[in-house]
Amino acid sequence: MLKVDGIHKSFGGLKVLQDVSLTAQPGTITGIIGPNGAGKSTLFSVISGFIRPDAGSVSLDGERIDRLRPDVIAERGLVRTFQVPREFGDLSVLDNLRVAGSHMADEGIVAALLFWRRTAQAEARVTARAREMLERLNLTGVAGNAARALSGGQKKLLELGRTLMVGPRVLLVDEPFAGVAPALRDQLLTHLKTLRAEGICVLVIEHDIEAVMEISDRICVMVEGTILIEGTPGEVQRDPRVLSAYLGSAPA
Ligand SMILES: Nc1ncnc2c1ncn2[C@@H]1O[C@H](COP(=O)(O)OP(=O)(O)O)[C@@H](O)[C@H]1O
Ligand SMILES: [Mg+2]
Repeated sequence: MLKVDGIHKSFGGLKVLQDVSLTAQPGTITGIIGPNGAGKSTLFSVISGFIRPDAGSVSLDGERIDRLRPDVIAERGLVRTFQVPREFGDLSVLDNLRVAGSHMADEGIVAALLFWRRTAQAEARVTARAREMLERLNLTGVAGNAARALSGGQKKLLELGRTLMVGPRVLLVDEPFAGVAPALRDQLLTHLKTLRAEGICVLVIEHDIEAVMEISDRICVMVEGTILIEGTPGEVQRDPRVLSAYLGSAPA
């Protein structure tokens, strides 16, 4: 279980997160919505260790992770995608996935010398897993292409694939559907539902309200650095404060 408790974060004088708390369970999707600048991506950066909070804690299955580096947090099974995909443009699509999974093969230089055979086997396992991921994400046809040549939607798929190479228990996805063509959007939706069915705890930031309402078990509405409303999609949809939050007027 992911538990975020009382997170505060300021940049200079700007209070970007103010007392943000939430919990999320395995095998569920939590949607995070709210206007631009509400602090959604910053919250993901805090949870995944890219930004240190000024106060508050993040824990995974009861263990604090808020003082750990992002790569250590990833090894514990929590990974995030970025709003703007961060693929290695010059590398092939396959190699992007292999790099993302390389920690599985990384046994250090001494081990590499002593156990070269085992290291080669580990490499082969990473490659096999990367190929499975290509199949799963429908990217096999472009496996050898440079990642920078992918369409916007394919880059989102690759970004998702790179995080999945880690074998996460918690997955944070930042605006997966933004700028993605309808056919790929539906593919991505299906992938997220499959990951939930596999028991992964998924948090998704998204402006596509229809998609969020469809896939989320719980929804958090963030406004000006705080979670204004938390509930089921039905509860959130009925709450008049949601509309006023988006229109920027004070709640009635
Ligand atoms: N590294 C940073 N330094 C200074 N201000 C930042 C930084 N990251 C985000 N902000 C500011 O924090 C606020 C929230 O940003 P962000 O978390 O990206 O919002 P959202 O994802 O909800 O659109 C914005 O006002 C943004 O300009
Ligand atoms: Mg954002």
